[in-house]
Amino acid sequence: MTRGGGTASAARAAARAAALPLLLPLLLATTIPLARARVDLYDPYTGYVDHAVANPAQASILRRVRDGMTDDPNRALLNWEGDYPCKQPWVGIRCYQGNDVTHLDLSHRSIGGDLLDAIAELDTLVELDLSSNFLTGPIPTAIGLMPRLATLNLRANRFTGGVPATLGNSSSLRHVSLAQNRLRGTIPAAAANNAKLTTLDLSANALTGPIPTEFGGVAALVELHVAKNMLNGTVPREFAGLARLRSFRAQGNVLEGTVPDNWGSGMLDLEAIDLSRNFLYGDVPANLANIPKLRELRLNHNQVWGTTPAALIALNASVPGFVIVR
Ligand SMILES: *[C@@H]1O[C@H](CO)[C@@H](O)[C@H](O)[C@H]1NC(C)=O
Ligand SMILES: *[C@@H]1O[C@H](CO)[C@@H](O)[C@H](O)[C@H]1NC(C)=O
Ligand SMILES: *[C@@H]1O[C@H](CO)[C@@H](O)[C@H](O)[C@H]1NC(C)=O
Repeated sequence: MTRGGGTASAARAAARAAALPLLLPLLLATTIPLARARVDLYDPYTGYVDHAVANPAQASILRRVRDGMTDDPNRALLNWEGDYPCKQPWVGIRCYQGNDVTHLDLSHRSIGGDLLDAIAELDTLVELDLSSNFLTGPIPTAIGLMPRLATLNLRANRFTGGVPATLGNSSSLRHVSLAQNRLRGTIPAAAANNAKLTTLDLSANALTGPIPTEFGGVAALVELHVAKNMLNGTVPREFAGLARLRSFRAQGNVLEGTVPDNWGSGMLDLEAIDLSRNFLYGDVPANLANIPKLRELRLNHNQVWGTTPAALIALNASVPGFVIVR
């Protein structure tokens, strides 16, 4: 009813809801003989007739995924039985505009065990959210090859192994969070082959090696968060052309060198830079004051620093809410 707006559409919806009980016997009589696998349930609460077609193939894939989730203290997956994953009482599943599973959200359910490769067989999945559980073992590399997956949230689990390089093979993934896990190894530069990558959060793992300069070529990047790892090397000068980047957080690593003096007016959307708690040295580049939307600059707990450029002091004084910590 929020769609139409106004009293006319509300009245129409009320009329529709009143008419449905009368239509129901007719609907049942006509639809069931035509398609036996189809279930029509009248929901007296919303006034809608809910359709679902059996999807035994995806039901079986989901049960194989469940086999890996050996610890399910709240019994969230108990009702994953039968051939209708798009219907109640299947928990955590959404089939947007159809009878294929498009969303799987099992966040905050205290689920433990492994994430099995079978997950990648759900080729209609658009969003996978398993955040805030106790999942262990490696992240299946095949996840990067899922043709429609756009959002992958595995934040706050106990995944081990590396960041899958296959993130770069995807032409659909836009939002990826693998933060707060136990991932090791380097950030694969190949991940930057994904031109649609918009947010990447790898914070709070045990990653080593450099921040790949290749991300400077991912024009879609809005958030790049790699804080609280053991990343070394320098802050990439190659990021100076990231016009959509809104926040870059790399605090709490072992980065060396200086803050790039070419970061400036080309970073049109950049609001927040956090490079605190590293091993950076040198002067604070005056060019940072040319980043048009900069509101937050954190450089505290580094090595050697010169004076704060006058242009940044002026910005701090004139822009309400500006945060500069050094
Ligand atoms: C993924 O991309 C890499 C290049 O970054 C390529 O070598 C590899 O064959 C691709 N893998 C698949 C499964 O497509
Ligand atoms: C970064 O650390 C790795 C070991 O994890 C080391 O091999 C490499 O030389 C270091 N790189 C720099 C630039 O310090
Ligand atoms: C930034 O401005 C605040 C007041 O708005 C001031 O307290 C703070 O000292 C300033 N910081 C610097 C580095 O100038």
